[in-house]
Amino acid sequence: MEKYVIKGGNQLQGEVSISGAKNAAVAILPAALLSDEPVIIENIPSISDIDWSIKILMRLGAEVKMLNRTTLRIDPRRLTGHQVDYDLAKNMRASYYFLGALLGKIGVADVSLPGGCDLGTRPIDQHLKGFAALNASDSVEGGMVHLETDHLTGGRIYFDMVTVGGTANVMMAACKADGLTIIENAAKEPHIVDLANFLNSMGADIMGAGTDVIKIRGVEHLHGTQYSIIPDQIEAGTFMVIAAATGGNVLIRGVIPKHLESITVKLQKMGVTVEEYDDSVRVIGSGKLQKANIKTMPYPGFPTDMQPQISTLLTLAEGTSIVTESIFDSRFKYVDQLRRMGADISVDGKVAVIQGVGRLKGAPVKANDLRAGAAMIIAGLAAEGVTEIEDIHYIERGYDAIEKKLRSLGADIRKITIPEEARELAR
Ligand code: EPU
Repeated sequence: MEKYVIKGGNQLQGEVSISGAKNAAVAILPAALLSDEPVIIENIPSISDIDWSIKILMRLGAEVKMLNRTTLRIDPRRLTGHQVDYDLAKNMRASYYFLGALLGKIGVADVSLPGGCDLGTRPIDQHLKGFAALNASDSVEGGMVHLETDHLTGGRIYFDMVTVGGTANVMMAACKADGLTIIENAAKEPHIVDLANFLNSMGADIMGAGTDVIKIRGVEHLHGTQYSIIPDQIEAGTFMVIAAATGGNVLIRGVIPKHLESITVKLQKMGVTVEEYDDSVRVIGSGKLQKANIKTMPYPGFPTDMQPQISTLLTLAEGTSIVTESIFDSRFKYVDQLRRMGADISVDGKVAVIQGVGRLKGAPVKANDLRAGAAMIIAGLAAEGVTEIEDIHYIERGYDAIEKKLRSLGADIRKITIPEEARELAR
């Protein structure tokens, strides 16, 4: 078992490069199965969710080869299976993308209901509704989702809510369906556009990705491609908050500033300087932080995946801030951990009221999930004294080399291994 030990108080300075987007990569890897030829995917982040995706691809019979640290070649020509069992699916939410990919490729899929961060109930009813509109039947037995079709046909889908996973999944299957599919109330996140661009680069015919109506005309064959994944919006946003929280001055390189706008605007409102360049942003955290109200919304709104990080920053601000989580039922679990560090936050359902305390104090805490873990790192870097973060495997699901990147900016962070007995005694 490993944990991070952080000695807070250093103002982070320098430059950091952002890795490929997790939530694009975990969709693009399964989507590669739809190709009839090998594909090369560049700018893959080194995170455990990708390791799990590769294991699933290999279990299904795809040939997967890392060409270098960030480039992967996937040859899906000798697919032998259509089943993703619980032992693999439980490790990440994105295992649900094998439903759409396998359905599109061979018309049948058996995928165990997905795991991933516990953010409250996370049903996949909208995904199934979408597959049904494409003429696929579904059943769930023993936690396994079974999809089947004798002939995938285009259809019209109106999602009851904006769903990233549902939009991406239906888009994948619809690429190979006979005729036109129209998705209404589609998600507009940058990773949806990236997936559409990837599929189009293989010969798919997708229009409108990035708007709330996506039209997909099915094609018979998809061919090989070489494609580079977009930079990770949330990793970039997390480093922006880190720079602000430590009163630092950090150039965050290899980003698409447009994807960061909702974060930039809130940081500026809080008194943080954000300078935008073509493919980088500089964040300078000088002076006192001001309160702000935040409501998470689908893109282009403020991302739920940045909510724990910005809430942590608001604990350091002057005044009372209100944060409303409108995407997930239960994304404030990390608040108990921040309270251990001196934060003054009360939560009522989906609303948190944050009374700024100016300074946090180091404490032993744990990462409840991926972004909650990022929030603990931010808190630890800004706090007086030492913070120890347990359950960092959550953080490693989605942040590529975070400890190394932080150290290069002057952070005092170390990863240490705790013997299992010590952990048991501490319970
Ligand atoms: N929803 C349903 N039914 C469905 C699908 C979604 O009720 O069939 C609800 C969800 O319960 C939630 C809302 O709709 O309340 C939005 O869920 P969405 O489907 O958009 O989320 P997701 O696909 O499960 C992805 C990201 C999450 C990110 C959300 C929202 C991946 C692998 N995961 O999840 O990323 O928070 O979109 O942007 O892309 C993270 O990276 O930390 C993370 C949790």
